[in-house]
Amino acid sequence: ENKNNLRKVYKYIFNLTPMARAKPNMNVVFVGHVDAGKSTCVGRLMFDTGAVSEQEMKKLKEEAVKYGKAGFEFAYVMDKIKEERERGVTIDLAYKKIITQKFEITIIDAPGHKDFVKNMITGTSQADSAFLVIAAPAGVQPQTTEHLWLLRTMGVKNLAIAINKMDAVDYKEETFKKVKEEVSKLLRQVGINADTTPFVACAGLKGDNIAKKSDKMPWYKGPTILEQFDIFPVPESLTNLPMRMPVQDVYEITGVGTVPVGKIETGIMKVGQKIIVLPGRTGEGVNGEVKTIEMHHETYPEALAGDNVGINIRGIGKKDIARGDVICDASKPVPIVEEFVAQIAVINHPTVLAKGYTPVFHIHTAQVPCQFIELIAQMDPKTGGILKEHPDFLKNGDVAKVRIKPMGKLALETQKDNPRMSRFSVRDAGSTVAAGVCLEITKKK
Ligand code: GTP
Ligand code: MG
Repeated sequence: ENKNNLRKVYKYIFNLTPMARAKPNMNVVFVGHVDAGKSTCVGRLMFDTGAVSEQEMKKLKEEAVKYGKAGFEFAYVMDKIKEERERGVTIDLAYKKIITQKFEITIIDAPGHKDFVKNMITGTSQADSAFLVIAAPAGVQPQTTEHLWLLRTMGVKNLAIAINKMDAVDYKEETFKKVKEEVSKLLRQVGINADTTPFVACAGLKGDNIAKKSDKMPWYKGPTILEQFDIFPVPESLTNLPMRMPVQDVYEITGVGTVPVGKIETGIMKVGQKIIVLPGRTGEGVNGEVKTIEMHHETYPEALAGDNVGINIRGIGKKDIARGDVICDASKPVPIVEEFVAQIAVINHPTVLAKGYTPVFHIHTAQVPCQFIELIAQMDPKTGGILKEHPDFLKNGDVAKVRIKPMGKLALETQKDNPRMSRFSVRDAGSTVAAGVCLEITKKK
C-alpha cells in the first residue's frame, strides 16, 4: 500500500517512474526438508523487525497451544490456512515483504513436505535467491537434496544455507561444522562452489542470528539471515528486457471492453505502446495498442516488471486473447517455438520417462501438451558433464537434456534471453513429474 502511495506521489508531483527511485526488488525463497524451520525463521524475522506485533504474536502462541502445536507460533505467521495450523506443516506458498538497506524483498515461504513439491517449484520459479534451511540436529534429508536440485534446475542463481535449530545442539560449533561439511559435499555434487556459499548458523525459534546477532555462538563470525539478504547481488534488472505480460485472465467489463490481467514479467509497458498478443487466436499474433493501464483501481501511464495490471488494448477483443497468451512489445515479439531443448529434473514420475511421453507443460500462464521427442543426454551431477548419451529412459532424481515438441502454439524463450519466460514444470495426473528450464529454441516458420 505504501508503495502504491509512493507511486501516486511520484506520478503527480515528480512525474517520474516510481521504480527509478525505489530500491531494487529481490524475491527470496525459503526451501528445505519438512520441519527444518523455514516458516519459523521467516516468522521470527517478521517479528524481530517489527512487522508482527507482540500482541499478534501472543495471539498466535495461544492458537498454537490450542492446536497442541506449541512452538509453531512463529511458523503461524506464515502458515495461515487452518489445515496448515492443525497439522503444523506448510502446504501453500506464503509471501511477505521486507525492506532492507539494499532491497525491497519479497520472501517466499515454500513447503518442505514432499506432497506439496509443486508449490515449492512454483515458489522457486519466482525466486532470484534462495535460503536452503537445514535443521542442525537432522542434517541433510531427502528434500534437502531434492530442493537443491530444483533450485539448480530452475536456475536460481544465489544460494545461502541456513543451519537452523542450533539451540537444539547446544549451539555447538562442532555440529555446525559437521552439517556444513555434509552440505558442502552435496553442493559439490550439484556443481555449486561450497567455499563461496554462505552458511548461516541460526535458531529461528530463539531468534539467534535471524535479525539479531546471537550471543550464544561467539565462534560464528558470519552474517545473520537479515544481513545475508543484502549480501546477495542485485538481480539483473528485469525492466531492461523486452516487455512480456503473460495473460492470467481476461475480463469483459461493461463500458471498458476486454481487460486482460496479469503480471508484467519483464520490461516496461506504456500507454500508446504498440503490442502484439502471441500466440493469440490465430497463432500468428494479434496487433493492438495499449489504451489504459490499471493497477489497484488507479490508472497509470506506465507499468513495470513485477507489476500486476489490468489493461485495455485498442484493436483487441475478447475472442483475440486468452489465458496463456503473452502480450509483447510489437517490435520485440516472443518467439513461438517449433521445438526446444531443455534441462529438466525428473521429480515424481510413477514409472520411467521415455521418448514419446506427452504430458502437460506449465509455462508462465500457459498449459500446453508437449512431447519428449529426444532424450539427448543424462547429466552427471558431480561434474555437470554427460553421464549417458541418449538414455532409453529417465527416472526420478535424474537430470537430463531433452528435446521437446509442443503439441500446440507455445510462446517460450531461452534462459539466456529471458529467464522469466524460460522456466516450466511438467504435470501429469495431478502431480509434478519434472521441472526445467529452456536452453535453446527452434522458432516456428
Ligand atoms: P514445512 O513448511 O512444513 O516444511 O516446515 P518448516 O520448515 O516451515 O518448519 P516450521 O517452521 O513449521 O517448524 C517445524 C518445527 O520445528 C516446529 O516445531 C518449530 O517449533 C521447530 N523449530 C523451528 N525452528 C527451530 C529452532 O530454531 N529451534 C528449535 N529447537 N526448534 C525449531
Ligand atoms: Mg513451513
